[in-house]
Amino acid sequence: MRNASGVKMNIQNNTNMNTDPSQTPGEMANDVKGEGLDYRSHIQNLSPNPGAKLLRYGKTKEGVISLAQGEGDAPTPEFIRSAAIQALQEGKTFYGMPLGLMELREELTQYYKRIYEIDLPVNRAYVTSSGSKAMNLALQSLIEKGDEVVAVTPIWKNLLNCLEVVEANIIESPMDFIDGKWSLDLDKLFASCTDKTRAILITTPSNPTGWVMEKDQMQAVLDYARKHGIWLISDEVYGRLTYDRLHAPSFLEISDPHDRLYTVNNFSKAWAMTGWRLGWLVGPQGSEGIIQDVANYDYMCPPSFSQYGAMAALQEGEPFLQELLTLWQGNMDFMFDAFATNDRIIAKKPDAAFYAFLRVEGETDSVAFARRLIDDYAISLAPGSSFGRVGEGFMRFCFATSRPKLEEAIGRFMKAVDAL
Ligand SMILES: Cc1ncc(COP(=O)(O)O)c(C=O)c1O
Repeated sequence: MRNASGVKMNIQNNTNMNTDPSQTPGEMANDVKGEGLDYRSHIQNLSPNPGAKLLRYGKTKEGVISLAQGEGDAPTPEFIRSAAIQALQEGKTFYGMPLGLMELREELTQYYKRIYEIDLPVNRAYVTSSGSKAMNLALQSLIEKGDEVVAVTPIWKNLLNCLEVVEANIIESPMDFIDGKWSLDLDKLFASCTDKTRAILITTPSNPTGWVMEKDQMQAVLDYARKHGIWLISDEVYGRLTYDRLHAPSFLEISDPHDRLYTVNNFSKAWAMTGWRLGWLVGPQGSEGIIQDVANYDYMCPPSFSQYGAMAALQEGEPFLQELLTLWQGNMDFMFDAFATNDRIIAKKPDAAFYAFLRVEGETDSVAFARRLIDDYAISLAPGSSFGRVGEGFMRFCFATSRPKLEEAIGRFMKAVDAL
């Protein structure tokens, strides 16, 4: 469709137009995408992200406790901030290399040696301006319009939207929820793949479920991918947030340098650095020049002085991470003790990450429930439908917060459940 001046219009195709009368003008503005302008239609028509929308809504309301986002409320620790401040004071404010500071790349290889006991050559480790960016670089380097990507769900909705941006054909491969626990049936996963499958996307540990993929399953998936020439993209940003071991298994531990494998990681979660926008990507042997090009033409280089903070995080960050995990383990125990007092709540403790992904019996519309929790109980949680179709009916409750705030939030949530 074109308007009077010949500008191509996509208004009629825009399925995101939302006329919910209870929306604030700000919310409505976010739903009207490119009206009257000739944007690329698949960008105008990205699928709605109800979690992001409710998160914004919760933040507009005074007194609402938000545990809908994937971050804690403690700032980045002092030793990391000082390293970046020092870099700033020394004038480290210039453009850097597209794949990041060589010292930080080398530090990453030492980190993998120390924590995972693997030898990763520096030409496979690329610093990126966030884990999100690492994912996007991987996708940009691989996906042609219409390529099938099989995504194991539930999954953080942004990753599905990243796939939409590169015009992948998304196949959701849902995990099973049995007796309160999530598990991956490999036969179902492989049955979701076809000869058009370009990549399999797995998040392990999972946001939102906290499920951790064990090495035997990783090996089976790697064998399958090798046999069929399929790429694996493993999002491992929660890999250090494990409660029963030093780290979750990584595909890097079982793969060869020439496997079609990308692993995505970040500094955001383990070292409380969400606002720093730094992550990293590990690619196969030979991917360095490709990722260098994609990064260079996208953003030239990751932020310079932030990388000095990241270096401090890798070198000195273990005690801080262990402190966080102790706090979160206590929070998790407290939270699940509270949940156990009402048998309408169906959930088991996660093995990793900092989310409870729970179901409340009788609540099947997660967006409506999340909205009610904000309006009537002043607590904001993420609706399960933000994590793929199989997430509907669930709520994601982040417990990476201070104990007093968590106790207040749980009190409000339990009141809502008890009132059902
Ligand atoms: C599974 C997963 N991957 C990637 C990211 C991206 O994190 P960042 O862009 O802060 O590095 C997140 C953030 O919540 C996430 O949950």
